[in-house]
Parts: sequence; structure tokens; C-alpha cells
Amino acid sequence: MAGGANERSLWGSRAGFLLAAIGSAVGLGNIWRFSYVAYSNGGGAFLLPYLVALLLAGAPIMLVEYGLGHKYHGSPPLAFRAISSKMEWAGWWMPIVATLGIMLFYAVVIGWCINFFLYSFNLGWGDNTQEFFFNNFLLIENEGTYMVKHVNWQILGATFIVWLTCWGICFKEVNHGIEKACLVFMPLLLILTTVLVVWSITLDGAAQGILLYIKPDWGKIDVFSNPEAWKVWTAAFGQTFFTLSLGFGIMITYASYLPKRSNLVGNGIFVCLADTMYSIFAGFAVFGVLGFMAASRNVSLQEVVKQGPGLAFVVYPQAINQLPVARELFGALFFFTLVLAGLSSGISLIEAFTCSITDKFGFKRGKVVSIICVAGFLGSIIFTTNIGLFVLDIVDHFINSYGLLAGGLLECVLVGWFIKTKLIRKHMNDAGGIVIMPAAWDWCVKIVTPAILLLMIVMAVVEDISKPYEGYPRWMILTFGVGALLLTLLPSVALSLAKWPDRKVSHKPEQEHILT
Ligand code: PFF
Repeated sequence: MAGGANERSLWGSRAGFLLAAIGSAVGLGNIWRFSYVAYSNGGGAFLLPYLVALLLAGAPIMLVEYGLGHKYHGSPPLAFRAISSKMEWAGWWMPIVATLGIMLFYAVVIGWCINFFLYSFNLGWGDNTQEFFFNNFLLIENEGTYMVKHVNWQILGATFIVWLTCWGICFKEVNHGIEKACLVFMPLLLILTTVLVVWSITLDGAAQGILLYIKPDWGKIDVFSNPEAWKVWTAAFGQTFFTLSLGFGIMITYASYLPKRSNLVGNGIFVCLADTMYSIFAGFAVFGVLGFMAASRNVSLQEVVKQGPGLAFVVYPQAINQLPVARELFGALFFFTLVLAGLSSGISLIEAFTCSITDKFGFKRGKVVSIICVAGFLGSIIFTTNIGLFVLDIVDHFINSYGLLAGGLLECVLVGWFIKTKLIRKHMNDAGGIVIMPAAWDWCVKIVTPAILLLMIVMAVVEDISKPYEGYPRWMILTFGVGALLLTLLPSVALSLAKWPDRKVSHKPEQEHILT
């Protein structure tokens, strides 16, 4: 492999890049996470901490990732190594945690959505959706039993389809695979979400649900009068990171496929705004349906509001059962929307790792993607067993509370302290388009953002040490939480120690133009 020049492909159009970046950001998290996090942290008032988090951490780190990927023209290991060879391991760690930490269970959750999409056609979840989801579908026998006993073959089959689809998309170069897929997925996703929102807000009782979602409860966010308010602020920062797909080097990878002249800052701001607006918009469908359900079953709204899996797979099917007309169609639309949103994020998780390996070793993309997808599918199997939900809960907690934030912190330290922020800022400004404001961005990257991220990590450590997360047995937390995070360090260090083959990486010269 050593010797020859390795031509990296480029996005075919600016729209293609933007749709792929928005596709990564808009995912399951926007539909089932944002509206609940907003509701439980002050409703409409949550927008304030969320926007502050977006300004102080989300947008600055998004631009750090765009700047790094574009300037060094490569995936995280390559970009990090260009700054300091001692930091290459961190460049590996981010995409490895993304693929092993998130994608293994993300693929399984998309697999649940595929199953529920199929159940929609005959409302196969029955009347007791709670029992159906936890006992019949996830095969959870009784709480407190953490032995692997069964695999749900239906979930395993759907998970296989998810990995196969991702393989089919990522196998091709980004401009033929991910870009083409997102050109279809994203407009379709917007159309389906709009249909769901319009349908939901016209249901009886929807108005009450939506009011609960947007009504500001300022007391919840006021740190001076409410000692618990800091939790709302940390939730806002956590949500920004997760939803924008930051901290894992995905945006570094995506920006590395941009041509020399690109409106980096404009693109970054556009992706942040599009993702935020999608979250707020999708929240109307979620809370419209919850309002309808509370009204039709004559129960209090607070009783039907749930987050995560409980919302999508227990409450939503219950609400669909109550619809007066076209229940099957509504169900199919909702779960298909989730599948699309999940797939467009899933492929970005695989891409970051793939690109890291092809950048360093020059292996053929097809081979690398095939190995990652086969290994990924095998790794997903644990999440399709009867303890899958518990493992997922622990992994998700540790990745969100530590992995994502540590990734963002490393990026800030690297750009803010190892090299001059001015260097990256100048590069982004010179690339064309909107110009970045000097002082504000530099201060955020050097001081404000890393300080906030560090504080959040410390607070999470204190909380996790004081009591085991969600009362899970310590062996599970150590194995799937702490252990998994530490285990990903081994391959990261090993890959960073491997020698770089002597290859040149170059743009295709004819493609060095501003994408329009
Ligand atoms: N942003 C995606 C969502 O909101 O569902 C999830 C995600 C994708 C998180 C990629 C992190 C990531 F690197």
C-alpha cells in the first residue's frame, strides 16, 4: 500500500454535504429525546439553556470539527496527528467509541423500529403495549435478572438488515453512497415528519399536550432560586452534543471531503439551526399525540409522558390504538420516519471509523466497511438478548456522560492549547463564505467550552460514584460502562502506534472548486 497517492473523494454538491451532515445530526434523538428533555426541564423555558449551550459549546465545537477536518484534509487520527503525534490515539478513540459505543446499540434500536413498522400493519402490539414491548418483544423476564437466556430472532433479523443497509450505503465512496442516500432520505424524512406533525396537531386534545411542551417554567432553569436548576443546564449541554453528533469526529470526517473553497462557517451554522428546528418541530408531533391520548383515555397528561423507548414503543402504540381512523397508516408512517432518521445517523457513525482506517492504511474502502459491518453486527447481538435493554441503558449513559463530552474536551484542548486557535480560524475564514468572529470563538474554544465540559464530566463522576447508575449491579456497570470505555482505549493506542505508510493524500484537482 505504501507509495502511491491516495485520491480522496469529495462531496458532489454543497446540498449533498449539508444533507449528509444534517442526516447525521437528525436522528432518533431528535424525535424521542429532545421533546422529553425539553418538557422535563422547563418546557418552553428550556430553549434558553439549550440556545446558550448551542452558542457556547455546540456551534464552537462544530466549527472546531469542520476546521480540523478541512485544514488537515482527513479523518480524526490524521488531523490529530498533524497537530501532535502524541495525540493520535485520541483521534482513534473518538470514532472507535462512536462505532463500538453507539452504533452497536443504535442499529438494534433501528431494528426495533423496523419490527414495529411491520407490527403497524395489523396493530400487532395488541392492547397492553407495555407488556408487549417489555415481556413479549424484549423478552425481559423479571426485573433484577441479568442473565443472558434468549435472543429475540426477530430483532436480530432486523438488526442484520440495518447493518446490511448501512454496508450497502457506506461501501461506495461518500459522493455515491452517503450523499445519494441522504439526498433521498432527508427530503423524505421532512415530508413524513410534516405529515405526522399536521396529523398530530389536528387530533382532539392535541392543544393541551403542545401547551405542556412549550409552556415556559422559568423556575426550573433559575439557578439562583432553584438548587436543582444546574441539572437543567447540564441536560442542555448533553442534548446539544448528542443531537449535533459532536465529539466523535464525524464532522471532522465529513468536512474532510469538502473541496478547498467551502463556506465552512456558513455550513456549520446551517446544520446547527436545521437540527434544532427539526427537534422543536418533531416535538409538536410527539406532544400533540400525547395530548390526544390523555384526552381520549381521560388521564392526566403527566401520566402519559415518557421518554426514550417507553415513549416510542409503549405510549405511541397505545395512542395509535386509540386513533379514530387510519391507525395502521399512522403507525407505519411514524416508525418508518424513525427508521429513516436512524439510518442517516448510523451511516455517519460507520463512516468516521472507515475513513480513519482508509486514511491511515490505504486499504480499500469496500473491504474496511465489510469488516466493520460484520464485526458490528456480531457486537450488536448482546443488545438483541433479554438483557439488551439494560446493557443499552448503561452504555448509553456512559457514552453520553463521558464519551461525547471527553471527545469535545480533547478537541478544545488540541485546538485551543496545542495549536493557536487563530490558525484554524484563519483557515476557515480563508476557505470562503461567512467569516468567524475572532474573540468570541477563540475564548469559547480555549476557556469557556472546555471548562463547562470538564465541570460536567466531574459532576457525572461524583454522581456515578455516590450511587450506581439506575441501581444496576456493579459488575454490569463496570463491564458495560467503565469497562467498555476503557477497552476502546486499547485498539486506539494500538492503531496509533502502527507506522503510517508513506502515501500522499490528495484532492482530485478538477474538484477544487466552491460547491454550489
Ligand atoms: N445525532 C444523532 C441523534 O440525535 O439521534 C445520534 C448520534 C449520531 C449521536 C452520531 C452521536 C453521533 F456521533
